[in-house]
Amino acid sequence: MPASQGSVVAAAVRASLERSSWIRRMFEEGARLKAEHGAEHVYDFSLGNPILEPPPQVREALLGLLASPAPGLHRYIPNPGLPEVRAYVAAELARETGLPYAANHVVLTCGAAGAVNIALKALLNPGDEVVTFSPYFVEYDFYAANHGGKLVRAETDADFQIDLEALDRVVTGRTRALLINSPNNPTGVIYPEHKLRALADYLNDAARRFGRPIFLLADEPYRKLVFDGNTVPWLPPLYDHTIIVTSYSKDLGLAGERIGFAAVHPRAAEAGLLLDAMVLANRVLGFVNAPALIQRVLPLVRGAMVDVGYYQRMRDRMLAPLREMGYECVTPGGAFYLFPKSPVPDDVAFVRTAQAQRLLLVPGSGFGRTGYFRISLAVTEDVIDRSLPVFAQVLQQVRGQALI
Ligand SMILES: Cc1ncc(COP(=O)(O)O)c(C=O)c1O
Repeated sequence: MPASQGSVVAAAVRASLERSSWIRRMFEEGARLKAEHGAEHVYDFSLGNPILEPPPQVREALLGLLASPAPGLHRYIPNPGLPEVRAYVAAELARETGLPYAANHVVLTCGAAGAVNIALKALLNPGDEVVTFSPYFVEYDFYAANHGGKLVRAETDADFQIDLEALDRVVTGRTRALLINSPNNPTGVIYPEHKLRALADYLNDAARRFGRPIFLLADEPYRKLVFDGNTVPWLPPLYDHTIIVTSYSKDLGLAGERIGFAAVHPRAAEAGLLLDAMVLANRVLGFVNAPALIQRVLPLVRGAMVDVGYYQRMRDRMLAPLREMGYECVTPGGAFYLFPKSPVPDDVAFVRTAQAQRLLLVPGSGFGRTGYFRISLAVTEDVIDRSLPVFAQVLQQVRGQALI
């Protein structure tokens, strides 16, 4: 409805609702199909909702906290988080990166989403641009717009790896931040160290050219979800103006508890002021502080995580048969997604054909890359097994249609 027709909802928000994500649409369609046909006849690969329960230590820690509650357990806490939890996160980062992270470099946040939002609120002036490598997590568009910024895409190469020439085509004096996500949603790709070193060199050079640093926001909620013995290189040792923006949603299975953190590099430009700005943002965006109870759990479950082997087994269970059928797909090194090539160029048409067989996928266009589709591996084995004949059938069907 045009603004002149007087909707009570702001025009920009209405526009966002219109573009509302494919993932949500698929989720709604899935609920409808399950109600109509029964859950066992729907093959739902649309949502990246971590399926694994948190490790048992989380429940033990929660029960312990509730069994002998300290006074004020549920009161407001400092906006940046509990001092001992900030110190715990900083010590982990210092150990992993070799850099002098301290408690005052860390803000506990409502998930990675909260962390990205407070960082962008702290950094962006109206009209500033945030670059990201495409395909990418679609919420980034909204996060940049939330703070008066604009998301700009740099295409990755055929293997979804960083392409510095493509990056250089979109970086300008308006670029304030680069939002990078490895292991990647939707591709599962991990950026190797040599690529990240080259990226850091590029950003340092850009800072000299434009007279101000471009901040690197490292969105890493899948850091520990890696397969085949892979590791994810740390960005802070490579680039001073890095802010880690991440969560425990996936590795501890705590997505609904909304717990993560933002950590500013100890040597970042104006690190102290930036931290103050992010703490203020945490407050005024209405998060106030990250949930207190689950913050207290973090130091108590040090080192615990979900069984990553599960997601690797799901990857292997799905990837090999799909390839045998004729689907092409880059092997994901981590996270819990496959991003195969659509057998026909129109990924939306492919996804609609699949949907008619109750096979729910998300088109690549929903992630800024047409010609592909995403499969979430946050499912049970039986869903994969039951879906394989349907994948084969849909492939035959679209190939048949393409010949007509
Ligand atoms: C790449 C990426 N960034 C951020 C998020 C948001 O994470 P959280 O739920 O911890 O806020 C997600 C969630 O799926 C994601 O895939």
